[in-house]
Amino acid sequence: MSTAVLVAAVVGGGVLLLMRRLFPRQKVAKLLQYPADTMRGKTVIVTGANCGIGKALAGELLKLRARVVMACRDVGSAEEAARDIKKQAGPEQGEVVIKHLDLASLTSVRKFSEEIHEEESRIDVLINNAGIYQCPYTKTEEGFEMQLGVNHLGHFLLTHLLLDVLKSSAPSRIVVVSSKLYKYGQINFDDLNSESNYNKSFCYSQSKLANLLFTLELARQLEDTGVTVNALTPGIVRTRLGRHVQIPLLAKPLFYLASLAFFKSPLEGAQTPLYLACSPEVEGVSGKCFANCEEEELMAKATDEQAAKKLWDISRRMVGLAN
Ligand SMILES: NC(=O)c1ccc[n+]([C@@H]2O[C@H](COP(=O)([O-])OP(=O)(O)OC[C@H]3O[C@@H](n4cnc5c(N)ncnc54)[C@H](OP(=O)(O)O)[C@@H]3O)[C@@H](O)[C@H]2O)c1
Ligand SMILES: *[C@@H]1O[C@H](CO)[C@@H](O)[C@H](O)[C@H]1NC(C)=O
Repeated sequence: MSTAVLVAAVVGGGVLLLMRRLFPRQKVAKLLQYPADTMRGKTVIVTGANCGIGKALAGELLKLRARVVMACRDVGSAEEAARDIKKQAGPEQGEVVIKHLDLASLTSVRKFSEEIHEEESRIDVLINNAGIYQCPYTKTEEGFEMQLGVNHLGHFLLTHLLLDVLKSSAPSRIVVVSSKLYKYGQINFDDLNSESNYNKSFCYSQSKLANLLFTLELARQLEDTGVTVNALTPGIVRTRLGRHVQIPLLAKPLFYLASLAFFKSPLEGAQTPLYLACSPEVEGVSGKCFANCEEEELMAKATDEQAAKKLWDISRRMVGLAN
């Protein structure tokens, strides 16, 4: 018995140490504090706001009295999340609007944009947060590989369709949630939809690199419009993002404990997008990437202007924007 406990302790301790090496320094020392009125009168769209980073972010924006448009593919889940964040936001809070948006359907993206044009007079911040990670090979309604389709192409069209409102609301901001895993990606221009060979981790990385190249080219195009666009990498956050990743049953409790100890909470993960949405420090700053509320240096493949332009043109054609 005591041997078993000892072995368990040693193995458990070893795994925790290994986790610490793999996931160094995720925790946030101090949460951002802005004056309560910071976002009063401002409208912010958050995609994927029903859970994870997006929900925590929506909650913080609501506390800062924004009008928060929760753009979600599951309206029931969004309503539940809205109840939670309203309850937590206190007596003086902004407003929540729930809207259906499925980024895996360009028809849905267009419909969402039409409704925004009809119902909203301004957009101060658009936060492209929704994302899908390492799902089995599936395709969006238009036949795009799911991770590229949702993480990049759906948001590409969405941003495009909302640009007129963002410009008329200037100074306004676009915030793009990428990931450090972009480092392991490339844009496979020969087979963007991975028809011939699907590697789910590669495709996630490709989509997150696409987020960065999109940010780069969009910032160039938006110079002198009063609309800025910046990306961020949130770090490793305890969310439902890993839902498609299989963890052996026995390792689950350990993984859960380690995630509590070493991963950021959703609120901690929401700090950098909150900073980019609210902080006066980044007024006028555009085309950059941030981590832990500081500018982050990117690998050359994420600052390649030619690749960014090429991806832009192909994306336009893919989503049916090219003439
Ligand atoms: N967690 C991390 O460690 C980490 C690290 C780096 C980057 N990120 C990035 O952070 C962002 C937020 O992820 P998270 O960690 O908060 O994960 P999450 O809890 O799984 O949230 C992802 C959100 O995206 C939504 N979504 C997925 N497919 C969609 C679609 N087709 N249309 C509309 N919405 C869709 C999800 O909606 P449903 O709930 O309906 O599925 C959910 O609201 C993602 O862009 C992710 O790549 C996360
Ligand atoms: C899949 O892609 C990842 C990241 O790009 C790479 O490290 C890995 O070796 C690839 N796996 C296969 C089987 O090619």
